[in-house]
Amino acid sequence: MSQQLAVVAERLLSRLTLNSDQHWLDFGAGTGLLSLPLAQQVAQVTALDTSAAMLAVLAEKGQTNIQTLQQDVFAGLPAVYAGVVSCMALHHVEDTLGLLRIFHQHLQPAGQLALVDLYAEDGSFHGDNEGKGVKHLGFEPAELQALAEQAGFQAVTFTEILHLQHRNGRDYPLFLMQARASG
Ligand SMILES: C[S@@+](CC[C@H](N)C(=O)[O-])C[C@H]1O[C@@H](n2cnc3c(N)ncnc32)[C@H](O)[C@@H]1O
Repeated sequence: MSQQLAVVAERLLSRLTLNSDQHWLDFGAGTGLLSLPLAQQVAQVTALDTSAAMLAVLAEKGQTNIQTLQQDVFAGLPAVYAGVVSCMALHHVEDTLGLLRIFHQHLQPAGQLALVDLYAEDGSFHGDNEGKGVKHLGFEPAELQALAEQAGFQAVTFTEILHLQHRNGRDYPLFLMQARASG
C-alpha cells in the first residue's frame, strides 16, 4: 500500500502553490511520504509526528531542510506555516474540529491546507480499529467541510485522489480536501 500512497504525494503536490521561500508543516509525517517530495520544492518542512521510531527513519534519509518534531499536535506548534499537508493521519485524531483550529491558527493568512484521508468506510480498512488508534472510520465530505469552515477555512474542495487496493481484496477511495485559511 505504501507504493500506492507514493502516487498520492505526486498528485497532491501538483495541486499546491509552492515556492522556495515557504515553510510547510506535514502533520503525522511518518517516514516522510509527503515531507520528502515537498522539501524538494520549498525552503523548509517540519515533519510532525508522535512516533520517534517513524521520525528516526525519516531523519536517516538525510534531507537537510526537513526538521522532525516529535510531539502531539495538541502540545502547541512552534511556528506559522505557508501550508499544512497530511496523509492518513486525520482519522487518528478524535477532535477533528480542534485539530483544524490548530492548523488555522498556525497558517499564514490565505495559507494552504491539503489533507488526504479515507472517505467514510465500514471499519474494515484497519480491522483492529481500537488497537490501531483509529478514531474515525473515514469522513463524510460535507461533515468535514462544515468543521473546516467552523475552524475558519474557506474555499473547501474535495477531490478523489486514489483508490487504494487493500491486501484484504477491497479498495478504498481516498479524498484530498483542500482549503484556504481566512485573511
Ligand atoms: C497512518 S500514519 C501516516 C504516515 C504518513 N503520513 C504516510 O502517509 O505514510 C499516521 C501518523 O500520524 C501520527 N499521529 C497520529 N496522531 C498524532 C498526533 N496527535 N500528533 C502527531 N502525530 C500524530 C502517527 O504517529 C502516525 O505516524
